[in-house]
Amino acid sequence: MRIGVLASGGGSNLEAILAAGLPVVAVVVDRPCRATEVAAAAGIPSRVVLRRRDRLAFTHEVVDALAEHDVEVVVMAGFMTILDKPIFDAYEGRVLNTHPSLLPAFRGAHAVEEALAAGVKVAGCTVHVATLEVDAGPILAQEAVPVLPGDTAETLHERIKEVEHRLYPQTIREFIG
Ligand code: GRF
Repeated sequence: MRIGVLASGGGSNLEAILAAGLPVVAVVVDRPCRATEVAAAAGIPSRVVLRRRDRLAFTHEVVDALAEHDVEVVVMAGFMTILDKPIFDAYEGRVLNTHPSLLPAFRGAHAVEEALAAGVKVAGCTVHVATLEVDAGPILAQEAVPVLPGDTAETLHERIKEVEHRLYPQTIREFIG
């Protein structure tokens, strides 16, 4: 199974996926970010498809970039642009995502901040199949992470990421069989 990773940020999940030896053949980012360096260090081709207002055209370009590398499974690892229908048609049931909350709680881009603001005592992460509806697809794996006294969004997110770095590669491996 040829994996294409979509990223927008620090690329720590990409690093964990690579460290797990998963067959990543291409990385697509939607902005200049560290994930590109992570890909380069691993000798994996990466492409920047700058995010823009035209979500449909953006999605088509992402799908084309993945198709160039014969990608079979798409793994979103901190990808911060909402994708449109073409990717879910091209890769039906084969787009995965990790989200830093126990879905269906706290969907969206500010999950960790919102969990803290709500005063939850248990946060966590969810690996799921991504669908057109954001953060709503079938759940594949979930793990709880404690919220500790004095946590900031940053310290809590770091604790969640440590779990993601183990849970996401493991779940991807099971998914691709
Ligand atoms: C992860 O916590 C992911 O769940 C969220 O953004 C973070 C990405 O971190 N959507 P990184 O870019 O993999 O370091």
